[in-house]
Amino acid sequence: MSKYWWKEDIGALPHLITETPGPRSRAMHSSAIRYIKGLSSQVKLFPVCFEKGYGITLTDVDGNKYLDFSSGIYVTSLGHCHPKVSEAVSYWAKNLMNAHDFTTPVKEKLLAKMAQILPGKLNAIQFYSDGTTAVEAAIRAARAITNKHEFISAFRDFHGKTLGAVSCAQMYRNSTYSYGATRAAGFYMVPRPDPYRPLWEKADGTIDTDSYIRFYEDFIKEGTVGNVAAFVLEPVQGWGGSVFPPDDFFPKLKKLCDKYKILLIDDEVLAGMGRTGEWLTMSHWGVIPDIVTLGKSFGNGFPVTAMVVSEENGKALEKISASSSYGGSPMACAAALASIEVIEEEDILQNVRLVGDYFLQRMENIKENHPIVGDVRGKGFLLGIELVKDKNTKEPFDEAGKLVYQKAFRKGLAWIPAGHILRMSPPLIMDVKYARLGMDIIEESIQEVENEFGYNQKCTKSTN
Ligand SMILES: Cc1ncc(COP(=O)(O)O)c(C=O)c1O
Repeated sequence: MSKYWWKEDIGALPHLITETPGPRSRAMHSSAIRYIKGLSSQVKLFPVCFEKGYGITLTDVDGNKYLDFSSGIYVTSLGHCHPKVSEAVSYWAKNLMNAHDFTTPVKEKLLAKMAQILPGKLNAIQFYSDGTTAVEAAIRAARAITNKHEFISAFRDFHGKTLGAVSCAQMYRNSTYSYGATRAAGFYMVPRPDPYRPLWEKADGTIDTDSYIRFYEDFIKEGTVGNVAAFVLEPVQGWGGSVFPPDDFFPKLKKLCDKYKILLIDDEVLAGMGRTGEWLTMSHWGVIPDIVTLGKSFGNGFPVTAMVVSEENGKALEKISASSSYGGSPMACAAALASIEVIEEEDILQNVRLVGDYFLQRMENIKENHPIVGDVRGKGFLLGIELVKDKNTKEPFDEAGKLVYQKAFRKGLAWIPAGHILRMSPPLIMDVKYARLGMDIIEESIQEVENEFGYNQKCTKSTN
């Protein structure tokens, strides 16, 4: 099978035959929302109804075809319905759907593969069916390993919506994830370095990582009861706005953790499995965490996630009785194994690095040419553009974010920014031709919004 399977019959893209969302989308959505509640803001702002995904495209019920710039929600990273993944799942759907946590041939193969691709001795593994449960298991494992019970996470990190995970997650806006409840006892949050909005700077204006680390050390000594089991952190903040820490942050943090015998839980549910050009984003900084969580891209759409602990701590997984009903089902293992094999066979990591360079360069050009673009950042295919009212004050420009989102969607770009940050997570199989097409649509939409808000500077389109 060619690695460009997704280009077969791709035709004109985007291909819009009605206004969007079209009449059938609107009718179905209206019917659905009589019953389904708690939808995301993205769906409320653009109520389209999809019925097919193939490679880098999505087609709605009115027959409009969109370019996918979100991979579902950082999930279908190898393209919608990758033939190898679909075939692997359907084989086990016909042969063995569930076998509790007994060993199966496909599980045995997946475990060996994971031990091979993950760094260091990260090879004590358990499977789950969503990211938040993997994080929850990581919290329980960290307690079992350290016999300690306190956890430190960071402002604007996100780790899921169960009680332990939510206690490590952002709760600053209307307590969206906490239902107004307070964080579980023993869970703390600290600021983490955001190079665009630094709390502590050096004399030359660059971000001062050492001050963050010093603050954490003080906090461990003064703000806890001396029982910190782990830092729970995303390597890069996905929902927090595609915010990458400075390169020296995690190496310094790991040293601090080791000094106080605190574990580092690296939540790679969103950023792992190739999205930034490495199997783990943490590997960009040469850091091997103590516990890793994997999800989203791990099964390319099939609900399969994992928690991985270093070999010497594997016994902890016995103590917490780590297995579950659906984790590691044959279908789940087949999806994860096929996804890893596709990443290897199609040289996906290399594509992510190459096309990722294009994305970065193009976004830098957009920043130069547009007064409301305050910051651009990314690695590989995990990208963000931050919209501000004024480049000096950096005041977030939420209204512009919403409008850019809707305009680009109307032009045929399926994506999921939120608030003033345009977050992009295209399928990792995408080439520069379609990367450029998506960025053209986004830039055109930014320009239109600037015109509407009276930013009259004549912008030249950034060179592609
Ligand atoms: C970093 C991170 N961890 C955990 C989760 C929770 O994953 P799930 O939605 O599969 O429960 C998410 C979801 O977006 C995430 O981004």
